[in-house]
Amino acid sequence: MNNIITIENIIEAIPFAIIVINRDEELVAINNSASKILEAPKLKSNIVNSIRHPDLVEAIEQVFETGQAQVISWRTSRNRLDLYYDVSVKLMDEDHALIAFEDRTTVEQGLQLRRDFISNVSHELKTPLTSIMGFLETLEGVAKDDKAAQARFLGIMKEEAQRMTRLVDELLSLNHIENNSHLRPTETVNLDQILDQTISNLEPEIARNGNTVDFQKPSHAVTILGDHDQLRQVFTNLLENAAKYGGPDKPISIVLGDIDHQPLLRTQGVRIDISDQGPGIAHAHLARLTERFYRVDDHRSRQVGGTGLGLSIVKHIVTRHRGRFKITSDLGKGSTFSVILPQ
Ligand SMILES: Nc1ncnc2c1ncn2[C@@H]1O[C@H](COP(=O)(O)OP(=O)(O)OP(=O)(O)O)[C@@H](O)[C@H]1O
Ligand SMILES: [Mg+2]
Repeated sequence: MNNIITIENIIEAIPFAIIVINRDEELVAINNSASKILEAPKLKSNIVNSIRHPDLVEAIEQVFETGQAQVISWRTSRNRLDLYYDVSVKLMDEDHALIAFEDRTTVEQGLQLRRDFISNVSHELKTPLTSIMGFLETLEGVAKDDKAAQARFLGIMKEEAQRMTRLVDELLSLNHIENNSHLRPTETVNLDQILDQTISNLEPEIARNGNTVDFQKPSHAVTILGDHDQLRQVFTNLLENAAKYGGPDKPISIVLGDIDHQPLLRTQGVRIDISDQGPGIAHAHLARLTERFYRVDDHRSRQVGGTGLGLSIVKHIVTRHRGRFKITSDLGKGSTFSVILPQ
């Protein structure tokens, strides 16, 4: 190995984007990571050409004037993605400063998710609460002596309270699944039994809309290593959706089958397809359906009591089982939700 270690060698070995500049703000050295985030950086050219950020120019001036290290935040974007960096400028010797870019994008994205989540939950709870408050006032006021109105309003209030209870239950469930996502399920479960059970539990709800269920399964038992309650939750959510959004008086089909080799899983697996003949879902929504609180038609979904958490729970459970979850849909024809699990 060559005994002379250069600045270039050192900064290339550091796992951050790093540049070195001189007093004239000219680029003296740059590592590979930095050349990816700066705009067409050229050695000896002024750094301002590569990062247009007034705070940075000021920080560099400060560093050369006072010798005190500076840290500033820099937000930029690439391919329409927002990127966040903490940029520190530190004097190396009288004429040189080192600028290091610490990527904070993942942290910022996490914070943004948390902000969105809190605002979604607050909004979901506020709507039924506002409605309950409104009816309480009416019950205390104009409807004080109106028995018929009281019964009607109490009924609505109960429904709203049920919606909030369901939301909280689903959030707790999601939290529990996420906390255990690293633990692989160890029970041997029988999928055709779980599906039979789910169908009979939901029978009243399915019949209410005039829907029917056709369940096709192999003649032998289909077992996998899984979590019984969670898998029941998966099929309940999917079947409930088919009944809620698949339109009235329509058949719902459930097909359970073995797959010898499942390319997506790179192993042997089982596949469960739950299909409805409802209005379908436009292509643009498909990729987002498993996001928390995502609903295609906010108004309609709310009317049927949906919180937009069901499919996100499904996705998390399937992931914990090291499986795949796929949605295909044809507008006007219906949708198929496929769960593929390793065996
Ligand atoms: N079978 C389906 N056909 C058409 N649209 C569907 C179907 N299943 C789900 N969707 C759409 O996807 C959205 C998200 O579904 P998801 O199950 O995550 O939430 P939800 O049913 O609104 O609420 P939750 O399941 O938490 O009660 C629904 O609001 C609905 O707009
Ligand atoms: Mg649902």
